[in-house]
Amino acid sequence: MGCISLALFCKIFEENKMKIIMLGAPGAGKGTQAKQIAGKYNIPHISTGDIFRANLKNGTELGKKAKVYMDKGELVPDELTCDLVMDRIKDEDCKNGFVLDGFPRTIPQAEALTAALEKIGQKMDYAIDVDVPDENIVNRMGGRRACVGCGATYHIVSIPPKKEGICDVCGAELILREDDKPETVQNRLKVYHDQTQPLIDYYKNQGILHTVDGTVPMESVFGAIVTLLGQ
Ligand code: AP5
Repeated sequence: MGCISLALFCKIFEENKMKIIMLGAPGAGKGTQAKQIAGKYNIPHISTGDIFRANLKNGTELGKKAKVYMDKGELVPDELTCDLVMDRIKDEDCKNGFVLDGFPRTIPQAEALTAALEKIGQKMDYAIDVDVPDENIVNRMGGRRACVGCGATYHIVSIPPKKEGICDVCGAELILREDDKPETVQNRLKVYHDQTQPLIDYYKNQGILHTVDGTVPMESVFGAIVTLLGQ
């Protein structure tokens, strides 16, 4: 392959990469959409919330430390979060892209991610903000049920399980997450507005921000995302 065509090949390869960040308030539907994106584009779904919950379930030190913050609706400190994600995105299965769900959540986390990618000559490709007003969020969180076994999520009205309280996927129990109780949700929303919403401008300035309306049915949200990803 000549120099020009090799350069073109590299460009096409780079263009096909899908390094995606899901932004949005707690309960906006980031996880719901991230799972579908991961399935359609065959890239890993990396959810820091799921990683912390798995650690908690397995009784690790990280899980115990994270629980203290999560139960109050506060953010786990950046020093416990950043290295975890930086190590994960170096894995072989991330070479064609990945979808980050719940990370970054603060400007220092975003800067750490930008710096880590710059070191290897890369950058994020899309930051997708799933936009849902606060008033819709509290209802959604109260109705969400999460599987203690596989982490699948349901909603008692919009996506009920076939059998009440039981996961369709693995048959384990469905629970209301500790941090989905109304008083904790209010604090999570406050933390979101104070610490995470500034990322919208951060990624707008990088020219990769896209906003989708997260109040419409989840299939329509996914349709809008597929349209913007363009494949
Ligand atoms: P995390 O698990 O990331 O929670 P979150 O960001 O608050 O997001 P959620 O998982 O609650 O909501 P979601 O947007 O994924 O919505 P979902 O798709 O489930 O983090 C938990 C905690 O971990 C944090 O509070 C923090 O303490 C810690 N943490 C995690 N990452 C961290 C980081 N980077 N730094 C520091 N700390 C960190 O949908 C919600 C519900 O709505 C579901 O029931 C769903 O079925 C329903 N739904 C979804 N879409 C629609 C729709 N279009 N219409 C109707 N219903 C819908």
